[in-house]
Amino acid sequence: MLKPPIFMITPGTIDEIKNRMDVVEVVSDFVQLKKSGSNYKALSPFTQEKTPSFFVSPSKQIYKCFSTGKGGDAISFIMEVDGLSYVEALKYLAKKYNVEIEEEQTSDEDQQRYNERESLFIILNFAKDYYRDLLWENEDGKAIGLSYFKERGFTDETIKAFDLGYSLDTWDGLIKATKEKQYNEELLEKAGLKIVKEDRSYDRFRGRVIFPIHNVTGKVIAFGARILKKAENQPKYINSPETELYQKSKILYGISQAKQEIRIADNCYLVEGYTDVISMYQNGVKNVVASSGTSLTEDQIKLISRYTSNVTVLFDGDKAGIKASLRGIDMLLAGDLNVKAVSFPEGEDPDSYARQLSTSAFQNYLKDEAVDFIVFKANLLVGDAKHDPVKKAETIRDIVTSITKIPDPIKRTVYIKECSDLLDIDESVLVTEQNKILVREQRNAQFKDQQAAEQNVLPVPEEKITSGKVPLDDAIAVQERECIRMLLNYADQQVKDEEDNDELFVSYFLHELEDVEFETPIYQEILTHFVDHLKEGRLVDQQTLLSESSAEAQKSIIDILADRYEISSWWHDKYKIIVPKESDRLKQSAFTSVLRLKFRLVQKMIKANMDKLTENSAEKNEEEILRMHNELKKLEISIASELGNVTAR
Ligand code: UTP
Ligand code: MN
Repeated sequence: MLKPPIFMITPGTIDEIKNRMDVVEVVSDFVQLKKSGSNYKALSPFTQEKTPSFFVSPSKQIYKCFSTGKGGDAISFIMEVDGLSYVEALKYLAKKYNVEIEEEQTSDEDQQRYNERESLFIILNFAKDYYRDLLWENEDGKAIGLSYFKERGFTDETIKAFDLGYSLDTWDGLIKATKEKQYNEELLEKAGLKIVKEDRSYDRFRGRVIFPIHNVTGKVIAFGARILKKAENQPKYINSPETELYQKSKILYGISQAKQEIRIADNCYLVEGYTDVISMYQNGVKNVVASSGTSLTEDQIKLISRYTSNVTVLFDGDKAGIKASLRGIDMLLAGDLNVKAVSFPEGEDPDSYARQLSTSAFQNYLKDEAVDFIVFKANLLVGDAKHDPVKKAETIRDIVTSITKIPDPIKRTVYIKECSDLLDIDESVLVTEQNKILVREQRNAQFKDQQAAEQNVLPVPEEKITSGKVPLDDAIAVQERECIRMLLNYADQQVKDEEDNDELFVSYFLHELEDVEFETPIYQEILTHFVDHLKEGRLVDQQTLLSESSAEAQKSIIDILADRYEISSWWHDKYKIIVPKESDRLKQSAFTSVLRLKFRLVQKMIKANMDKLTENSAEKNEEEILRMHNELKKLEISIASELGNVTAR
C-alpha cells in the first residue's frame, strides 16, 4: 500500500499553540467551571461525581482531577477528554486559536509508526467525500439520492452542512474507488465500510442515502444509511459497526455542530434520529442531538453535561414509544441534569413538525410545551391509573423512583411536594416510599463498596503500588518532593532574614538546602534548575521552568503543582476541614521541610553505616564504624528535637 505522505507539525507551530492556549478556555469548552478562590472547579468530566473534584489553575495553566488522578496542561486535557492523539489535540487547539499549522515531512521510520487511528480517519474522510460527490455529481446520485433529500425538504445548504451523501446500488463502488487510491483494503474493513463474507467482499452501504456521523471535533467516524425504495426484509437504516473510532454508546449524532449552540442556549434538545436533528437544525433549532435509536448511555449523558445541565427530551406522539423510553430519562436525572419533556401530536415527530411549522412557530412550540420531566411522567402515567388502585400504587412507586434518582435533596423535596398535589396523595406517603428506595440503594452501594474493598480495587496512591523501594528511600523522596513543591509555589515570595530585611524565599530556601543533594534524579534536576537560575541572578517562573524542563520533569512539576493547595481547599469544601494557609508561615514550613529531609538522610546514613558492620570484609574498622554511629545518632537526636520544637509551636 502506498501510504499518504506523513507530515509532522513543526516545533515552531507547537510553541505558538502553547503560547496562545489557555487551559481555562480550553476546559470551559467541555465542563462548566466555577470560580473557586484563584482557581476554578467543576464536576470531573472523567467520572460521574456529585462533589466537584476537578480543578483548573489559571496561573499554573494546569488541571487536576482528584477523582481519577488525571492532570496536565491544555493539550493533555484535550487528549484525555476527547480520546485524541497528541497530534490531533494540537490540531484541535490550532483551530481554536487560529494558529496556522506548519508541517514538515517525516522520515520513513516515522511513517511506519503512523498509527492506524490516523489512517482510519483518512479513509473515513475519503469515503465521506466519495459519497458526497456521488450525491451531487453522479446521475443516479442526483436522480435518486439528492431528489430524496429535496423531497424531505432539506435545502442544499443543510445537505452540505451535514455532509450527506449517496451510495451507488453496486457491490463494490467504494472498494474500487479506494483501490484506485491504493488504500489498504484491510483498513476499509476496519473502518466498517467493507463486509467480508467467506471469500467475497462488498461495500457495506449500497443504494442508500448516507448520513455521516461525526465525533465531537467534527471528524467522520461512522455512517448511517437509509434505504430509499420499499424493500422487504431490508432494514430501513443500517449503520457502521463498532470500530476503533466509533463506539455508538459514546457519541451523539449532531454533537459537533450542536455543542457551541448547546452552550449558548444552555439547553440541549434530545431527539431520536438523524432526520430529527437535521430538520430542527434547518428550522433554526441547532442545539439538538440524537441518540440514534439506542437508549441513552451514561457516556452520552456525560457528553451532554460537558456543555449544559439542561436537557429537553422530545418525544414523538406515540404513547407506547414514550413509555418505553422513560427509563432512559431517569438516567438523565441521575446525571444531575434538569430534564424537561416536550411531546408532539399523535403521528408527528420532531422532524415532521419542524418541517410543518414556521421557524418561530416551531420555536414557540418547543418553549411553550416544555414540561418538567417528573410532572410530564406523572401526568402520563396517572391518567391510566386513575380507577385502578393497583396500577396507581405502581405509578407512585415509578415516579418516586425517578425523583429518587435526583442527586440534589432539595430538588427532591420540591418534587415530592409537587407530585403529592399532582397525584393527590399525602406527601408523607411519598416520603416514606422515597426513603424505602434510598435505604435499598444505600445498602446496594455499601455492598458494592465492600466487594470493591475485598478485591482491593479501591484507589491506592500509585507510588504505594509501584514502589519496590525500602521505606526510608520513600520517605526521603517524599521530603524532596515537598521541598520542590515549596520552591515551585513560593520561590518569588518575600520572607524576612535574620536582620529583618526582605529576602526572596528561593534564596533563603536554597541556602538552607546548600549541603543537600537530592537522591531522586528528577527532583535534583528541578532543584538544579532553581540553583542555576539564582546564580545567574534571575528567578524562574513556573512557565519558564516548565518549558525548559525535560518531559519527565514537566510531568513531575505539573503533578506537584496540582497538589497541596487544591487538596486542602477540596477537603475544606467537602468536609469543612480547615487547613491553615502555609504561605502565612512560609519560612517555618520551609525550615521544617529541610529538617525532615535531613532527618531522613541521617537515618539512611545510620543504616548504611551499620550495614558495614555486618559486611564480611577484611579491612572493616569496627571501632571507626561505632564512632561514626554515635556521631550520627547524636545528629539524629538533635534534628529530632529541633523538629519537635518547630512542629510543636
Ligand atoms: P424514522 O422511522 O422516522 O426514520 O425514524 P425516517 O428516516 O424519518 O423515516 P420516515 O420518512 O419518517 O418514514 C427516526 C429516526 O430513527 C432512527 C434514524 O436515526 C431515524 O432518523 N432509525 C429509524 C434507525 O436508526 N434505524 C431504523 O431502522 C429506523
Ligand atoms: Mn421520521
